[in-house]
Amino acid sequence: MSDSRWAAAQRKEIWAVNGKILRDMAGAGLSVRRMAQVSGLSRDMVGRIMRENADKKPAKELISLMRAAREPALAGGAERDNKPEAWQLLEEMQDETIRREIDHCTVKLSFLGDRPIGVAFVGDQHIAPGSPVDWKRLKRDAETICETDGLYAVLLGDGVDNHLKHTSALLAARSDPTEQYELFAHYLTLFGDKLLVVLSGNHDYWSHDLAGVDVLKLLCDRDQYLYTPHHAFLEFKIGKQEYRVLARHQARGESSRNLGNAFHRLWEDLGPFEVGVLAHRHIPHISDMVKQGSKVWCLRPGTYQIYSDYGRKMGYAPSLPGCPVAFFWGDQHRVYCHSELDLAARQLEDLRLAGDLQAAV
Ligand SMILES: [Fe+2]
Ligand SMILES: [Fe+2]
Repeated sequence: MSDSRWAAAQRKEIWAVNGKILRDMAGAGLSVRRMAQVSGLSRDMVGRIMRENADKKPAKELISLMRAAREPALAGGAERDNKPEAWQLLEEMQDETIRREIDHCTVKLSFLGDRPIGVAFVGDQHIAPGSPVDWKRLKRDAETICETDGLYAVLLGDGVDNHLKHTSALLAARSDPTEQYELFAHYLTLFGDKLLVVLSGNHDYWSHDLAGVDVLKLLCDRDQYLYTPHHAFLEFKIGKQEYRVLARHQARGESSRNLGNAFHRLWEDLGPFEVGVLAHRHIPHISDMVKQGSKVWCLRPGTYQIYSDYGRKMGYAPSLPGCPVAFFWGDQHRVYCHSELDLAARQLEDLRLAGDLQAAV
């Protein structure tokens, strides 16, 4: 099975796991609405997964857990009478709740074979018709990732402008968020089955902050992309080698003068990782640092929105698209990062071909 077909199969597996959990909830008597609240999926998505898993039976342990979760709501009566039960239930569920909150952003992916793979980190597309976006480069980069064997993508957020937080920017925009997200949904299809995970940025999260609606999550649920807000720990297994990458949209400790500074803070707060990736600053960056005797790569993409009214107002220079790529080897523990997507794609093809030739000898 090719790596890309394997990635599609893995997505199917995640889909099946969601199906199992929802099935168990349904077995415990939870409504679709409640299942959507508990799982974090949309109601449409819950209904769809349930239909696709209608012939399978729920697991007993989870049914009893979910029954326990439902009891206070069924009990009714005075609110104060429910409090001890509600507290007890919260205590019973705390380990699971905390574990889910910590683990939900860990994405484990295994790749077949031991040939090297490449992961391109793409962010800050700021898709917004009427604004100075490099549309040609946006499309070309996505197609390059789609067409290059062994090359995958992680999206780092701010895919659209979605200027909900700043009324003046929203009024000045030449497109509305709906139009922007529709174009963004089309843009995601350009990657084929090469998108490993989609993260949110601050522009995406304004919908959640202001209205409690995570539009990007709804879009990813609908189109079956793996989504995690804010950040993701990516754990890759290639051959016998394992790698840990931390990708976030933004971080504490940012410095506009020293773009590598935030990675030190990130490593201390959330490390260890071998590759750290941040976006948000709109300036491409690639550097390394040494932590506990090992080299750690620090990557940032640029932005496809070359200029903006905000940039002009604040006196920023025009920006530059950039899409760093990290190579991971399977036959030895080795990471190498590249700042140029086109060149990285050609090098990766050569490396994988050389691996094939070596295997054939
Ligand atoms: Fe941005
Ligand atoms: Fe941002």
